[in-house]
Amino acid sequence: MVSPFQKALAKKIKAGTKRDLQLCQDYINFTSNDYLALSTHPSVIQAAKAALEKDGAGATGARLLSGNSKALEKLESELAQLKGQEAALIFNSGFQANLTILGTLLSSQYYDKTPIVFSDRLNHASMHQGCQLAGIQQHRYHHLDYDHLQSLIKKHAVPGHPHFILTESVFGMDGDKADLGIICDLAETIDASVYVDEAHATGVYGKNGSGLSSDYANRLFGVMGTFSKALGGFGAYFAGSQELKDFLINFAPGFIYSTALPPATIAANHQAVKLLPSLHHERHHLQALAQQVRSSFSQLGFNTGQSTTHIIPVILGDVEKCTKLHQHLKDAELLTSLIRSPTVPLHTSRLRLALNVKHTTEDIKLLTDIIGNSLIV
Ligand SMILES: Cc1ncc(COP(=O)(O)O)c(C=O)c1O
Repeated sequence: MVSPFQKALAKKIKAGTKRDLQLCQDYINFTSNDYLALSTHPSVIQAAKAALEKDGAGATGARLLSGNSKALEKLESELAQLKGQEAALIFNSGFQANLTILGTLLSSQYYDKTPIVFSDRLNHASMHQGCQLAGIQQHRYHHLDYDHLQSLIKKHAVPGHPHFILTESVFGMDGDKADLGIICDLAETIDASVYVDEAHATGVYGKNGSGLSSDYANRLFGVMGTFSKALGGFGAYFAGSQELKDFLINFAPGFIYSTALPPATIAANHQAVKLLPSLHHERHHLQALAQQVRSSFSQLGFNTGQSTTHIIPVILGDVEKCTKLHQHLKDAELLTSLIRSPTVPLHTSRLRLALNVKHTTEDIKLLTDIIGNSLIV
């Protein structure tokens, strides 16, 4: 039976903006976050198989019950090292990590005075939701606009309150980079704690793929990253002080009340982390492809925003044009991500191109030729 509530919910989906699930297998795929193609790396698959056979299909419980393992603890100590932090703690997904870490760390119940939080407007939804869960109001600065951040700090910082600044390091929808040096400088003027989401940077940037945060490790309060992007796996982690790790183990509901990751997933994640130092050639190839895409699109007069990474938005603004171009590319067996509001601000609808090391210069040429010759834009 369809209840009246179900009908009311269905009506919320507005004509023309409906999102549908899609299958990617038959396309040249520009939607995948598997930037280093580690999800199919033979040694990653082998590690997962061996763990599955040795330790079984599931973790059997939350970490504080039966779900802890030497494999998890070893991976955590390697992640801490990779990120230049004292300790790390694994979570079950990036979304869940941000939600529960921020929902816990920013909650006023743990402080004498309410936390004051500044965040980049374009931070991932999971960071915004973490703030909502904590019940705090964010002061959101314009994307990458540190003059605006400074003016918000002047206006809203209050001595004696805990202050936080939240940012991604590589922004997942725009492919541009935060300036962590400036953010740390501003944070230090008010003793603010800086929290960085490295979902799209880990594996691809920094020494040995350690991300962009490792150069600022001792100026940061905490870093989170995921295994679900360049590491080709699943799950996420927090890296910071041992005290913060202990605090999260004891107070973060998303950690306490959720079954640990399965052994095969931990083993695959671990093998991917081990491979990172050897992937110089892959990182170089990815940057060369990105350069090719950006210069081709700029010659064609397209707006690729401030992207300086392997994530490149082709910003058309108009939803209808984006939808048509997305379909046109699909008809030519090229899959891109169609990104609209509310994922990105209104009037900045775009096709998001995510490059990975399996793309070739021919794939890029095909993509730019089809878009360049299309009559849609
Ligand atoms: C910046 C950022 N943080 C967190 C997440 C969530 O990670 P996961 O897909 O592992 O839940 C994403 C995923 O798209 C992301 O882009």
